[in-house]
Amino acid sequence: MLEQHIADLLNHPKVVETRHHLHHSIPKHDHLLRSVRFSYRLAQILGANQRVCTRAALIHDINSRYGTLTTHGAIAARWAAEQGESDEVCRAIVSHMYPFGPHPTSREAWVLVLADKAASLGDLKQFVVGLADGRSWRIRRQLQQSDPFHHEQRRQSIKWRVRHQLRQQVPFYRHRRRYWGTQRHKVL
Ligand SMILES: [Fe+2]
Ligand SMILES: [Fe+2]
Repeated sequence: MLEQHIADLLNHPKVVETRHHLHHSIPKHDHLLRSVRFSYRLAQILGANQRVCTRAALIHDINSRYGTLTTHGAIAARWAAEQGESDEVCRAIVSHMYPFGPHPTSREAWVLVLADKAASLGDLKQFVVGLADGRSWRIRRQLQQSDPFHHEQRRQSIKWRVRHQLRQQVPFYRHRRRYWGTQRHKVL
């Protein structure tokens, strides 16, 4: 049974909190569970270890917001290793973004690559279906408003836009950093 492989992880606070994180414009928890279901089925078809595949699938995007397209696999794998997950699970997680990132090195890793891509298509379908009754935008808005991470991201992007505009339009601003750097150097 699928649940027996991941029962302990489902109650982990890190997994539970993904219910409130936005990922592919839907709750990340939905994406993780969808990946688990695809991994379970694909592991059966391809003769891979179902326990390794389902555990890797449930963890594969944990803390992904702190990385990039190519690095978040390594971040999730590090977290998995800290939790005492096996090498096979961590190895599968590291390469789940292939071809954007490392090459998969095991059968289980390939299962996760395929399951993640299939789940992403499922995420898109969920979002598009939810557009009809406004559910998708409502969930998206709710998650963006309740998640401090989005406030910080928005703040940073506003700050960046203001600086960018200043650099474009105020000639002195372009040299401010160099000027202050020189002054500090002189004082020291
Ligand atoms: Fe990912
Ligand atoms: Fe994913």
